Amino acid sequence: MKSFTEVTGEATAPLLSVRDLCVTYRTDAGPVVALDRLSFDLRAGETLSIVGESGSGKSAASLAVMGLLPRNAVAAGSVRFRGQELLGLSDREMRTVRGRRIAMVFQDALAALNPMMTVGAQLAEAVSVHDPDISRAALRDRAVELLDLVGISDPRTRAGQYPHELSGGMRQRVMIATGIANEPDVLIADEPTTALDVTVQAQVLDVLGRVQDRTKSAILLITHDLGVVAGLADRVLVLYCGRKMEEAPVEPLFYRSAHPYTRGLLAALPRIDRGTRRLAQIAGQPPSPTERPPGCPFQNRCPHAEDRCAESLLPVTVGEGHTAVCLRASEIASVTP
Ligand SMILES: Nc1ncnc2c1ncn2[C@@H]1O[C@H](COP(=O)(O)OP(=O)(O)O)[C@@H](O)[C@H]1O
Ligand code: SF4
Ligand SMILES: [Mg+2]
Repeated sequence: MKSFTEVTGEATAPLLSVRDLCVTYRTDAGPVVALDRLSFDLRAGETLSIVGESGSGKSAASLAVMGLLPRNAVAAGSVRFRGQELLGLSDREMRTVRGRRIAMVFQDALAALNPMMTVGAQLAEAVSVHDPDISRAALRDRAVELLDLVGISDPRTRAGQYPHELSGGMRQRVMIATGIANEPDVLIADEPTTALDVTVQAQVLDVLGRVQDRTKSAILLITHDLGVVAGLADRVLVLYCGRKMEEAPVEPLFYRSAHPYTRGLLAALPRIDRGTRRLAQIAGQPPSPTERPPGCPFQNRCPHAEDRCAESLLPVTVGEGHTAVCLRASEIASVTP
């Protein structure tokens, strides 16, 4: 965990700077706004978690940063990596950034890994793409070293196996190993543990944390589950209907959240001290992505909504590095959750 100055970035310039990022998908039902003016910074070595329900635009954000949006998507705004604008780069130009500078761990390891290649060969391939002169023996050693780094026992044997011979948790570790193969500055993990059961989920998150201690990569941890961010994230950004609702260092986000949506997500977390697995879901559904109301997108589900919430909203600063886009943010932050 980093000091507050490091977390808020007064000491270091951001590695990744996203400004007013908009992603719209063209569909037969009309344009779907997946992201609406999203801005955030990610600094060296820090972990920023983007949290939101399914459909909130998390993957649109990760795909836009990676230059991997599908053809029916239009992106606008700015994504700068070390000052270089990435939006609008050609695929060839993006390939020099992807994997080496910014790498991604996908949710579905089985779909992302090649079933016809041993995991060792896939890792070796990931390394050789950016390091073509490396010898075969060095590649093999590097693959084994990477498997060892992500906590796979007997890595030399495992390197010779195919993805289907590994458990789900092990495959996800291989995905992480592939992600870090070229020691990227930024690792984007989009729902890296969603497909796993709770115990394996914890192990894989632990691997991510330990790998970061070694590689010093910055991590963008994307998840629908606020529960997984607590042990890993330095800061949290809460996304709803493609818009940032709240952003804060992890502790104030959990203990002094200022947005009713964040409070709803927190209330839905299983709490051991309350002896319940899952308390409450947030009532209601998000508005249709093709017909968002003016003003706050959370109006129809918010227990604190009033007429003014239909007007345009600006972020309210409620603490150091802590903002919420809610008319009643200061009042809500003052109430203990
Ligand atoms: N390829 C696509 N074509 C059309 N709409 C899409 C496509 N991918 C995602 N969407 C829509 O964009 C919105 C955001 O999706 P996504 O970024 O996948 O959310 P999340 O990752 O938070 O679940 C949703 O309304 C989703 O239905
Ligand atoms: S702006 Fe209004 S509707 Fe939106 S979260 Fe705040 S109180 Fe609720
Ligand atoms: Mg997603």
